[in-house]
Amino acid sequence: MKYQAIALAALLGLYQNAATAQDPHAHHQAPGHDDRVVLSLTPGERAVILEEMRMFLHGVQKMTGAMGKQDMPAVAGAARDMGQKMVHEVPPALREKLPMAFRQLGFSVHRDFDQIALDADSMKDVSFSLNQLSAVLQKCVSCHATYQIQVPALNARH
Ligand code: HEC
Repeated sequence: MKYQAIALAALLGLYQNAATAQDPHAHHQAPGHDDRVVLSLTPGERAVILEEMRMFLHGVQKMTGAMGKQDMPAVAGAARDMGQKMVHEVPPALREKLPMAFRQLGFSVHRDFDQIALDADSMKDVSFSLNQLSAVLQKCVSCHATYQIQVPALNARH
């Protein structure tokens, strides 16, 4: 049982990510205080990132719906929509403003979705795809725990 739990945790990449994820509950901070790394962006740039994020959430929703129906071509299609082809939708000027670690994490999420698409097509195994999805969601969690977006012009009004 214990070994199963360890194997599952390893499979989901929890050990690998535990070291890098900044758990917001790990350090004691005043309620309402956000000490995540600030990405200082224009309102338009923020909108581009948040739109990409909502596409991620929508894609994850489509993937889980398709998994529930064991519709593996639809799982692959939804995963592929979140693959590397999505990267080109980010304007180069914005990309250059983002820290290297942020970009690398973002790229790796897109690469993972391409791999999930390939494996969903070839293996047609719901629980395999679900484990892969869980591992990639850990990267979403990790990035959200680390970064926040601020728009300086809006901040100045406070
Ligand atoms: C490389 C970093 C990174 C990764 C990876 C990432 N996000 Fe985000 N996401 C952000 C940032 C930064 C914000 C803005 C957070 C803030 O300012 O508080 C955000 C915001 C969001 C939002 C809010 C959108 C809105 O309109 O307000 C959603 C939903 C979201 N992300 C979903 C996801 C999902 C699902 C994944 C994984 C498939 C994911 N994100 C992966 C960085 C990331």
